[in-house]
Amino acid sequence: MSFFEDLPEPPKFSRLQALKQIYRGIRPIHNTEFTEDSYPDLTGKLCIITGMNTGIGYEAVDILLSKNCNVIGIIRTESKGLAAKEKLLAKNKGTKGSLQIVSGCDLSDFESVKATGISLQSILKDKTINLIIHNAGLMSNFNNRNNPNGIELMFATNVMGPQLLQSYIDPFFLKKDDTLKRIVWVSSLAHMGAPGPFGFNEKDPKYLDVKSRPQPTTLYGQSKACNILQAKAYGLKNDIEQYGIKSVSVFPGILNTELARDYPKIVKTVWSKIFYEPRYGAISELYGCFYPDLKTGDYVVPFGATETPRYDINAALTNGVCLKLWDYVQSEISDYLPKKK
Ligand SMILES: NC(=O)c1ccc[n+]([C@@H]2O[C@H](COP(=O)([O-])OP(=O)(O)OC[C@H]3O[C@@H](n4cnc5c(N)ncnc54)[C@H](OP(=O)(O)O)[C@@H]3O)[C@@H](O)[C@H]2O)c1
Repeated sequence: MSFFEDLPEPPKFSRLQALKQIYRGIRPIHNTEFTEDSYPDLTGKLCIITGMNTGIGYEAVDILLSKNCNVIGIIRTESKGLAAKEKLLAKNKGTKGSLQIVSGCDLSDFESVKATGISLQSILKDKTINLIIHNAGLMSNFNNRNNPNGIELMFATNVMGPQLLQSYIDPFFLKKDDTLKRIVWVSSLAHMGAPGPFGFNEKDPKYLDVKSRPQPTTLYGQSKACNILQAKAYGLKNDIEQYGIKSVSVFPGILNTELARDYPKIVKTVWSKIFYEPRYGAISELYGCFYPDLKTGDYVVPFGATETPRYDINAALTNGVCLKLWDYVQSEISDYLPKKK
């Protein structure tokens, strides 16, 4: 029996909505009213961000340091993290903030996420966490790649790994200890291509049967639809309003980063020529962190606006389906979760 029996009836797919969103992805709105200058000074504040050695995450940390933020960067490969740290600190010599790298976190490998979570807990003791950005992500060009448990790699990396990592951060984050408290789940326009209904394969989001897998773009779309659902479900599950926390998803923009690294050279060349610089993606993510009028479950689009996600995925934010997805992931990672005290 599937975990997702008896899902409600989803709203119909709208081609018009898809076209509008694609257009906005290619021709984003440049928000000129809420810019880097609008962000507060972040002296004494702490941000945890994944995948900051390159791309959007790197630019976000550059801006955070320029605002005097303390940053903990969780990355996979130590050498890449340390190289990024050296460059970022050289660029931000005057910062009153700091940058600490926690390396060895492969989000697709739950043993590795658990080990990172445990070492992170000893670092976070007595610290107030203000911002969390689940930025790291994989857009693979292959549909036959798996994590060590045989789970489709993008679902493991982009959905399950971040939710597991978050469970180790929660005891230090779910507190009313500051007025600035946000969590950002980085999504994508690609959620428009996710399977229906509600953005994930209700029979098996892990796609254990490799032969049944759709195109890589659909799998990436599924993972990014789930990020939208996670943003809302995290808020509902943890009743985060009592702590003054807001949880949002962000489509950062279509940007010239290493995201298409798996794709043929021609795709990478075209991608790098026609799309925007990663700095703009950081501006979208930081809009999610700082724009005052956002509410939990909002979907931020480039470069500083909000939109309605695909209609069935939007419905999943209020009809209980996002919670079902959250519970499903939680049950699938249960062997790796922190031990209850
Ligand atoms: N660029 C775009 O057009 C675009 C559009 C929509 C959404 N996004 C989203 O934006 C986020 C940042 O992407 P980006 O464009 O900056 O791409 P990027 O330049 O490829 O950076 C991705 C980051 O994620 C890390 N990462 C990938 N797989 C990982 C794993 N298994 N474990 C731990 N870290 C992992 C990478 O680490 P390594 O360097 O070690 O691989 C890197 O730090 C992603 O969530 C992506 O889906 C990007």
